[in-house]
Amino acid sequence: MKINKNYQNLEDSYLFSTIAKKVNEYAAENPSKSIIRLGIGDVTLPLAKAVVEAMHKAVDEMGVQATFRGYGPEQGYDFLRSVVQKYYASRNTDLSIDEIFISDGAKSDVGNILDLFDKDNTVLVPDPVYPVYVDTNTMAGRKIIFAEANESNGFLPMPDLSQKADIIYICSPNNPTGAVYNRNQLKQWVDYALENKAVILFDAAYECFISDKNLPRSIFEIEGAKKCAIEFCSFSKTAGFTGTRCGYTIVPDELIVDGIHLRKMWLRRQTTKFNGVPYIVQRGAEAVFSECGQKEIKQAIDYYRNNAKIIADTLDEKGIWYTGGKHSPYIWLKCPNGMDSWAFFDMLLNEIQVVGTPGAGFGKNGKNFFRLTSFGSDVKTKEAMERFSKLF
Ligand code: MLT
Repeated sequence: MKINKNYQNLEDSYLFSTIAKKVNEYAAENPSKSIIRLGIGDVTLPLAKAVVEAMHKAVDEMGVQATFRGYGPEQGYDFLRSVVQKYYASRNTDLSIDEIFISDGAKSDVGNILDLFDKDNTVLVPDPVYPVYVDTNTMAGRKIIFAEANESNGFLPMPDLSQKADIIYICSPNNPTGAVYNRNQLKQWVDYALENKAVILFDAAYECFISDKNLPRSIFEIEGAKKCAIEFCSFSKTAGFTGTRCGYTIVPDELIVDGIHLRKMWLRRQTTKFNGVPYIVQRGAEAVFSECGQKEIKQAIDYYRNNAKIIADTLDEKGIWYTGGKHSPYIWLKCPNGMDSWAFFDMLLNEIQVVGTPGAGFGKNGKNFFRLTSFGSDVKTKEAMERFSKLF
């Protein structure tokens, strides 16, 4: 018996688990200190009323013989897939319902999709980036190369024609940097993928934070993308589903490799390994797209946007360089005085009890950067930035 030795190539623990452990230890040693958590991108506002009502109704249905449901379709109920289809159509992207797969979140599917690809593919990942992309490919033993994101390219790396990649990860608005690609930049990535016969895995988990109509919210707004891209999206950040788990993955029918439809492969994979998202949760997700649901989630997103502004205003006042915060819930700042990001993390925790995420956790290019999220409460975000102001 042999274990998967690739796990030996991972960090000992997942970034956000490491941070949670450090913060919990600090809290246990300093019970009188009030800690403000702006680290992990976890939402704090409750679910929208429209969502809660829909879930209550679904619970009642499950308790009555006539409306009880057992196993649902692995790819999601049509009632939810059709509202997702309409959501894309409202942004001029036509999808067939079969191209939409309901999932239990972008994180799971970003990892699961790798079942479709050979181990010998080369993976291109931006540095810095959401650690799940690197970790899941490390687990599978794939070769990983990096697209360098840094201050000089505004943390938006463009294709390097000398690099040959088979699988390309793009996250826009980006986690952790908050930087957003424009149409022309995404078109260059699509052209590069088509030229290299590569597949783009496009993480659109933060699309709802884009407020500029000229910025693309989906890779499928770009010509040619349906032939080379898969898109992942989530209700977590859009509608507060981090604890309720629901998202969707779009695998276009035009995406064909060696004569094989990836959509069909994904359906085959999902029907075997996944039993679908609970009916109650899918009814809640459907309500996100109702008129009331849309109104309520817009209010929540505006609330987080305002928190981002509170953080950005403080950094502007202090003359600290950052990206994000405008079309993203994340603010990616340069650690003052060239500090190392873990040292900066320790300093903020020990001196002002504010928790953020060290940039080094997202890749070597994050070594001197730090991520703050706008998902806290407004009161706590203000308080955190007051403490921050006093420290600098
Ligand atoms: C983060 O903080 O980067 C997010 O919580 C990641 C996630 O959504 O899994």
